[in-house]
Amino acid sequence: MDHLLPPDIVEAGHSFPAELAACGDLDALLRLKGAYVGREGSHAARLMELLKLAPKEQKRDLGAAINALKQQWEEGLKSRQFEIETKKKNRKALAASWDPSLPPPVPAQGALNPLNRLMDRLVEVFRPLGFHVEEGPEIETEAHNFDGLNIPEDHPAKASSDTFYLAAHPDLLLRTHTSPVQVRTLLRVAQDLGIRGGVRFLSPGRVYRKDEIDPTHSPMFHQVEGMLVGHGIGMQHLKGTLEYALRALFGPHTEIRLRPSYFPFVEPGCEVDVSCPLCAARGCRVCKGSGWVEILGAGLIHPKVLEYAGIDPVEWSGWAFGMGVERMAMMLSQTPDLRLFFENDQRFLKAMGGLD
Ligand code: PHE
Repeated sequence: MDHLLPPDIVEAGHSFPAELAACGDLDALLRLKGAYVGREGSHAARLMELLKLAPKEQKRDLGAAINALKQQWEEGLKSRQFEIETKKKNRKALAASWDPSLPPPVPAQGALNPLNRLMDRLVEVFRPLGFHVEEGPEIETEAHNFDGLNIPEDHPAKASSDTFYLAAHPDLLLRTHTSPVQVRTLLRVAQDLGIRGGVRFLSPGRVYRKDEIDPTHSPMFHQVEGMLVGHGIGMQHLKGTLEYALRALFGPHTEIRLRPSYFPFVEPGCEVDVSCPLCAARGCRVCKGSGWVEILGAGLIHPKVLEYAGIDPVEWSGWAFGMGVERMAMMLSQTPDLRLFFENDQRFLKAMGGLD
C-alpha cells in the first residue's frame, strides 16, 4: 500500500529503526517522537491531512496503511523509551552502591610456574661456580639423544614403546632427557672455539617419555642437566659440587650419598641421594622411612662421549648429572601429585607462593 503514501514518508518509514536506535537519551527520543507522531508538522500529522483529502474509494486502504505505520512508530518509541530509562536507572543504582572507601580491585598478576622458579634457583646456585645456561631443542636427532651418548642400538630407551618418534621423520624424536645438550655443547665447543677453557653449563628443559599419566608420572616433564669438563676432573669434584649445590637448595645440614649405578654415557655412574629434607633423615613418608631420597643420576663422562665430539679423553675429563625437576619440586613443597604443577589451578599456585 506504499504507493498511496508520499515517497518521502515511505523513506522515513525505512530509516525509522536506525534513527530510533541512534537515540541515546530521552531528549533525542522526544525530538524523534515530535518528528514522527507529534501533533503538528510531523509525518503522522501530514498523513492525517492526506487522509482527509483522499478520494472516498481510497480512504479505507489509506487509513489502514497510515494506522499500521503510526502504530509501528509509537510502539518503537515506547520500547526505546523503556530501554533508555532502564539504563539510566541501572547507572544510578550502580553509582549509589559504589563505596569509595573500598580499596581498588587488584588486577590479577601472573607469575612463574613453581617448576620454572625451581629451575631458575638451580641456575642461580651454579652461576657463582662459573656455570652458564645451555639450551637444546626438544625435537632431537637420534644421534644427539642416543648415539653421541654411547647408548647402544638395542638399548630399551630407543624402543618406540618408550620414546616419541616423529611419524613423518622417523630419525627425529622428542628428547627423552636433557643429556643431548652435552653432545651439542661438546661438539660446538670442540669445533668452534677449541676446548681451551673447558666446559661448564647447566641445561634446564622439557623432556618426553611414553609414560602413562599418574601422580608421579607424566609424558612431559623437566630435567636439569649439569656438565663440567676440564683437566684432571674426577669423582671428588662431582661430589664436592653436588654437596655444595644440594646444601644450597635443601639446607646446610643436608648430607649426600653416592650409590653405584649405570648410565651408558658415564663411567663410573652413580645415583645421588640427599638426606631427607622433610624429616631431617629421621624417616618419613617421603623417604619411605629410609632417611634418604634419590635426587639425580650422575657420573664421570664416558670417554666415548668425549671422542664422539672430537675431544681427547686422555687430556680431558669431566662429570655430568641429570636431575628430575618435578620430583624435587614435589619433595620441597610436599606436593603429592605432579599434575598439580601443570593444571595451573590458581589456588595451588597461590599456595606455592607464585601469585601473592
Ligand atoms: N640422562 C639421565 C636420565 O635421564 C640422567 C643422567 C644425566 C645420568 C647425566 C648421568 C649423567 O636418567
